[in-house]
Amino acid sequence: MAVADVVTMDKIVSLSKRRGFVFPSSEIYGGLGSSYDYGHYGVLLKNNVKGQWWRAMLQERDDIVALDSAIIQHPATWVASGHLAGFTDPLVDCRTCKLRFRADKLEEEQCGRKPSKHPGETPECDLTEARAFNLMFETTIGPVKEEGSTVYLRPETAQGIFLNFKNYLQFSRKKPPFGIAQIGKSFRNEITTGNFIFRTREFEQMEMEFFVPPPEAQSWFEHWLEQRMDWYVNLGIRTDHLRLRPHTPDELSHYSSATSDIEYLFPIGWSELEGIANRGDFDLTQHAKHSGQNLEYFDTVTQDRYIPHVIEPAAGADRALLAFMVDAYDEDEIEGEGRTVLRLHPLLAPVKVAVLPLVRKDGQPELAGEVYRALRERVQAEYDEGGAIGRRYRRQDEIGTPWAITIDHQSLEDRTVTVRDRDSLAQDRVSIDALGDEIERRLRAPWRSPKLGA
Ligand code: GAP
Repeated sequence: MAVADVVTMDKIVSLSKRRGFVFPSSEIYGGLGSSYDYGHYGVLLKNNVKGQWWRAMLQERDDIVALDSAIIQHPATWVASGHLAGFTDPLVDCRTCKLRFRADKLEEEQCGRKPSKHPGETPECDLTEARAFNLMFETTIGPVKEEGSTVYLRPETAQGIFLNFKNYLQFSRKKPPFGIAQIGKSFRNEITTGNFIFRTREFEQMEMEFFVPPPEAQSWFEHWLEQRMDWYVNLGIRTDHLRLRPHTPDELSHYSSATSDIEYLFPIGWSELEGIANRGDFDLTQHAKHSGQNLEYFDTVTQDRYIPHVIEPAAGADRALLAFMVDAYDEDEIEGEGRTVLRLHPLLAPVKVAVLPLVRKDGQPELAGEVYRALRERVQAEYDEGGAIGRRYRRQDEIGTPWAITIDHQSLEDRTVTVRDRDSLAQDRVSIDALGDEIERRLRAPWRSPKLGA
C-alpha cells in the first residue's frame, strides 16, 4: 500500500510515544498544551537532521560560518527588527466557549462555530473584535521583578546573526557573498498550536543569513530555493510531496521583499516546512540606525561601500523531523504478519545497525557482543538479545534501523553474519572482519526512498 494511504498524524503520534521518539511534556501533571519532550530515538533523529543541515551549510561549502548566539538579547534588538511593534497575530476571544482563535485563520483553526468546540449543546461562537497579540514571550532580567528590565525570548534565531555581523566581518575573513548559520531554540506564544510538533511555542530553528552584494540578491535567492529543495530530496523526501509556493504580497513579513515556502504534504495538508526570504537590507539598516554602529561592508579592492542584502533560508528542526517521519512511515506485511516500518534515509536513522544473536546460548551472545562493540566504534549501534527474533526485527523496523546483524550457529564456525536490509528484506552473509566497512559503505551509498517504486 502506498504511504499516502496509511499515514495519519495519529499514527505518527502513537509511534512516537510507543517507541520513545516524542512524548507530551509534563505528562504526569496532565501535560502542557503544545510542549513536547524528545525521547532517546527522537534525540538521535533530530541530531541527525541538524547534523545533515550543518553538513550542507559548513562542510560541503566554504562560504558559510557558524554561530550560536544567546536566546535573550538586548531588548533594543526587537525594536529595531520590528518584532516589538509588528510580530503580532490578530486574536479573537469567544465569549461563549472561552477559546481563543486567530482571526485570520478561523476556518483553519476550526473556529467554535462548529458545535464540537463547545461543551454540551452550546450553539455559536460569540467573537470579540480582533486585537493585535504580540507573540514574543516576555521575562525580566534582575532579581526584583518590578525593577528589572523587560527582555524577550527570541522569536527567531536570525537576529542574533545580524547583531554579530560586524564581528564576523572582522574575524572570519569572509566578504559578501557569505553566510552565517545557526541552529537554536526560538519561542513564540502562538495563539493556537496543535498538530503535534508542527506548531509549538518552543521549537528549534535552523537559519542561515546569506549576505550578498545588492545586485546579486535575486540570483542568490534562486540559488537557495534550489539548494534547500535538493536537501530534502537528497535525504529521501518524495518530490511529489514537496512544492515551492511563493508568498502573495499580502502574506509577506514586514522585512521581506520576496519569500517562497517549501511546503510538504503533511497529513494535515500542504503546509510550510521552510521559508526562503529575500530580506533586502532591512535588518542591517535597522540595527545600524538603532545601535549607531556602521554595518556597511567596505570592499578594499573596489572601494565600494554598501549594506549587503540578505537571503535567508529558515527551517524548523522539529517540523523537518516530522516531515521525515511522515514521509518514512509505512505499513506492509511479512509472511502474513503486519509490520510498521520507518523507511528513513540511513543517514537520518537514529540507529544504523542492530546486533541480534539468534539464541541466547552456544556462545552467540559473546560473539554478538564482540561484533557490537566493534560496530559502535563506527556508527550508532544497538544490541538486543531479548525475545523472538521476529519481534526484535519489528522493533528495529519501527525505529527505522536500516540494517540488522544476526549472529547464528554458522557465525561461530566461519565468522560470518547475516545483514538484513530493512526495506528489501534481503539477507546477505558478510564476514565479521569486513562488516564495519560494509556498513559504512552502505551508509554512504546513494539512497532512494523505496516508496518511490521501481
Ligand atoms: N527568520 C525567519 C523566520 O523565523 P518563519 O517562517 O517564521 O521565518 C521559519 O520560521 C521556520 O521555523 C518555519 O518554516 C517552521 O519550520 C519553523 N517554525 C516557525 N514557527 C514554528 C512553530 N510555532 N513551531 C514549530 N516550528 C516553527
